[in-house]
Amino acid sequence: MAALLGKHMFVFVPFPTRPCFPQPCFFKFDSALSISHRASVSTVRATSATSMETRTELSDPVLIDKEVNNIENILACSVCYGPLTAAAGSGLSVESTKGYQLECGTCKKSFTGSESHLDLTISAGINNEESMPATTEIFRTRLVSFLYERGWRQSFSAILGFPGPEKEFEFIKNFITPVLGGNIIDASCGSGMFSRIFAKSGLFSSVVALDYSENMLKECYAFIKEEENFPKESLVLIRADIARLPFASSSIDAVHAGAALHCWPSPSAAVAEISRILKPGGVFVGSTYIIDGPFSFMPFLGTQIEIAKKIIGGHIVLSERELEELCTACGMVDFRCLRNRRFVMFSARKRS
Ligand SMILES: C[S@@+](CC[C@H](N)C(=O)[O-])C[C@H]1O[C@@H](n2cnc3c(N)ncnc32)[C@H](O)[C@@H]1O
Repeated sequence: MAALLGKHMFVFVPFPTRPCFPQPCFFKFDSALSISHRASVSTVRATSATSMETRTELSDPVLIDKEVNNIENILACSVCYGPLTAAAGSGLSVESTKGYQLECGTCKKSFTGSESHLDLTISAGINNEESMPATTEIFRTRLVSFLYERGWRQSFSAILGFPGPEKEFEFIKNFITPVLGGNIIDASCGSGMFSRIFAKSGLFSSVVALDYSENMLKECYAFIKEEENFPKESLVLIRADIARLPFASSSIDAVHAGAALHCWPSPSAAVAEISRILKPGGVFVGSTYIIDGPFSFMPFLGTQIEIAKKIIGGHIVLSERELEELCTACGMVDFRCLRNRRFVMFSARKRS
């Protein structure tokens, strides 16, 4: 399926039943409509330019079961994954995290909420916290957190081909259509651009905005406070490490991670955690950028990338195949992706 956005063409590539190895099935259309394809045409069905949008118009109303998807019921201790019990406070939402206390029934670790968020990291309560790689730490600074939705994120469109929040949300909805109505974690949410869109859409029983950066979460909280009639009851802000997610196994319908995989200290540890918390049939949808095409023919680039990785941490994705391998290695199936220039959005489903 294909969708036109400005002068770019996005191609949505469904792989309903089989993995695409050894021939990766990706078409790439850039602004000049130069096509680079590495698959047999029969594996790709690009239909009308509007077909993606059409699929987002839901024929049946989305059924939302607020009781089953109560946020407290899905939280788990980041140390031992034991169930957490609210020691003080009740009805967890973005408005009630201040003073909210949770205790693990198994290892007795306790967690406390601040005005903006609940800290569920392993290091919660430790004063001299160890530092993470630069690609994580840079987003913890007040300056970058402040600038993030005030120009930083927008620059991804010009530099990398990210389509922007509205279009990305349309694509996300297409990927997660089977689990709409359930709960969603916006993992590495930054200042919560998509978490807020998810909450306002009314398409999810609950939304968790999760990030490692306290300052990003504070920005998210500030944005929410500025908005009138924001549905605060369906959203909660949680500080957590993507490689140690504070949720019960098989408890989540959808995980979204926008523009984040390249920032994670270990994408494989992160995707394994995402797979653990997804319900069978639950969907992971992520976006990142890929360095390939002409870049991959530059002999010195491999070394440069390795050096860059060592200095700043994080990860540079070199192909769609690499993303598929990552999802498959973590027990997920039905890998799909769409591409525009360096931007890629991909999804996979936890085996049912
Ligand atoms: C480029 S921002 C993406 C923000 C947002 N999802 C978006 O679509 O614009 C990357 C985010 O990943 C977060 N991050 C980096 N390392 C992380 C980790 N170990 N655990 C959780 N989040 C992390 C950063 O704090 C930052 O907010």
